[in-house]
Parts: sequence; structure tokens; C-alpha cells
Amino acid sequence: MRDKIFSPSELERHYDLAPSPALAAEMADLYAKMDRVVSPPDWAIHAPYVAAINKLKKERNAVILAHNYMTPDIYHGIADFVGDSLQLAIKATEVEADVIVQCGVHFMAETSKILNPSKTVLIPDMEAGCSLAESITAEGVAKMRAQYPGAPVVTYVNTTAEVKAASDICCTSSNAAQIVAAMESDTVIMTPDKYLAQNIAKQVPQKRIVWWDGACIVHERYTAKDIADYREWNPDTRIIAHPECPPDVVAEADFSGSTSGILDYVHREKPAKAMLVTECSMASNIADELPEVDFVGPCNMCPYMKKITLEKVLWSLHTMSGAVEVEAEVAGKARVAVQRMIDLSRDLGL
Ligand code: 13P
Ligand code: SF4
Repeated sequence: MRDKIFSPSELERHYDLAPSPALAAEMADLYAKMDRVVSPPDWAIHAPYVAAINKLKKERNAVILAHNYMTPDIYHGIADFVGDSLQLAIKATEVEADVIVQCGVHFMAETSKILNPSKTVLIPDMEAGCSLAESITAEGVAKMRAQYPGAPVVTYVNTTAEVKAASDICCTSSNAAQIVAAMESDTVIMTPDKYLAQNIAKQVPQKRIVWWDGACIVHERYTAKDIADYREWNPDTRIIAHPECPPDVVAEADFSGSTSGILDYVHREKPAKAMLVTECSMASNIADELPEVDFVGPCNMCPYMKKITLEKVLWSLHTMSGAVEVEAEVAGKARVAVQRMIDLSRDLGL
């Protein structure tokens, strides 16, 4: 059956979605987690959606898995589990509810479906893509294999199921160095993020790493000069960069890690000033937990992640639209590559 076309007016017929200061006040406990970054009038707009989604979630026996790049209203208001790509993939294997709503991008929903195929996996906006996932196809992987015969293909999870299916093992930013180091071959092919590959090559010098020419449109915007200038103007700022940034940007940073690695670092270190060189919502999501930290720097948003909104989550759960399907043979092969990553990460104690 085809999905119904998104209709805000249909939602309004079924739910009372008018801004409600009264409901906002009733849900003050949730608001306390984001009141440093969400204004009271905005919370009065969000509160009816948050209430409706949390009620509907129970009726549908659904759980919401949300990436660290979601906005605070989603991250704190409706998510059952938040995390980085590896944590979300592992969590997807453990879900017992009937429905998973993936608040993130399409490849994340596909990964959940691949790992837990009996569940209905919904993505609230099918257009929530990723520049890395769009940069390579299974033919691209075959081309790399032909160029470097015998070299294993380590593929970032930010890819389609077809690309995962054509790969030997997956990785995320939190386990890429260890996964690459564990490969038996001297040469390792990494797809599709050239910057992640170049950053990992520095950490694993014993391997010859060759890469596909893909990049994340959010992280490639940062330059080493911007970071160096920022440090000169604000010498006491702790600079923390995601490894999807170019290597000269990572070299300017005090720490680099996956999104959850970054959150853990800031929680642990509590610097007076921090610049998170990654997607903008990360700082907003922990601003209330860490009032002692002043988050500074530019706000680069991922246009794909930002397609996921409370309104679309409600629509998706209301109509059960946005179900992600992966063809069985592709899913089977992709599952092997993703499961290998999960098993190896566990064996390595990651
Ligand atoms: P991680 O959460 O695994 O660090 O990934 C970042 C990212 O860009 C996801 O799209
Ligand atoms: Fe893809 Fe970059 Fe957006 Fe992550 S932040 S979904 S890697 S475009």
C-alpha cells in the first residue's frame, strides 16, 4: 500500500495540536532538560506534539531510536534511546516492540531493518538521506575491489544496504580504527568517507588504506584555518572534532571521536568553553546537563537530519507511513557485514 501524502490538516483533525502553555507547564519535567536552548513559547508549540507522540507510541507498541543529531525536542521529548550510529545499530538488534521509529537518516533505518527484519521500521521522512550514502553504489565497491585485488572492504555504516552487501565488514566512527587494524591484509579499502579514511590512516600506520572519494557535507565545511583562527581568538576553548572532518581540522582539535565519544568527552572534562566541530544540535542536546560549559562556535546543520520533525514523526506513527523495506537477498548480505562489525566490536571490548 502506498503511503498517504503528509497532511498537517489531517493531523489537526485527530489531535489537539494548538500551542498550549497549560500542557507545556504540565510537562515541565521534560522541558527542564532543554530550557537553556528552547524558549517557553517554542515549548508551548512542541508540547502538544510531544504528548500526542508519546501516547501514540504506546498504542502502536513503538520505540523511537534517535541519533545524537536530532533537535532537543526530539532528543529529550520523545526518544526512547539516543546514541551514535554504533549504539543505535546495537540497540536495533535488541528491540522487542513491534515498531521502530528511526529519528535519524535513511541508512540508519535501513540498518535497523536489516538487523531486526521482523519489525516495522519507520523513517518519518524518506528524503532524510546522507551525502556519504549518496556518494557510492555497489558498482563503486566492485571498482575498488578490481583496483586493489584481495584487499578487504571496510564500509562506513553511512551507506545504502546494497553497498553494505557488497562489503566485507562495516564500521562506524567509534570503531573504525580497531576494525581496520584487525583486518589481515596489509591494504584495506575504506568506503565512502575519504576524510574518515585519512584520519584512520594516521591512527593505523601499519596499514595501507585506500579510500573512496566521498565526504560529509556538514563536516567538510570546516577548515583548519577556521579552527586555528578560532583558537587564536579564544585560546581557552576546548576544540572537539568529529573524524568526518578533514584531517588538518582533526589535527587542530584537542579530541576527536564519534558523536557519543564527543558527548562522553565533554561530560568527563567539563571544559569552561567548548567548540563542537560537528552537527549543531549536539551542543543543544547537552546544554542543560552541563550548565558550566559554554558552547561556542558556528552552527552547521545537517539538512538531512533536520528533515525529521515532531510533526513528521506524529504523521508517520499516525498513518504508519515511511516503512523501510530491504530486499531479502541484499538484506542477508548486508546483515553479515553489519553483524561482523558488531561482533568484532564486542570482541575488542568497544
Ligand atoms: P556517529 O554518530 O556514529 O559519530 O556518526 C555521525 C554521523 O554523521 C551520522 O550521520
Ligand atoms: Fe550524512 Fe553528514 Fe548528515 Fe551525517 S551529518 S547524515 S554523514 S550528511
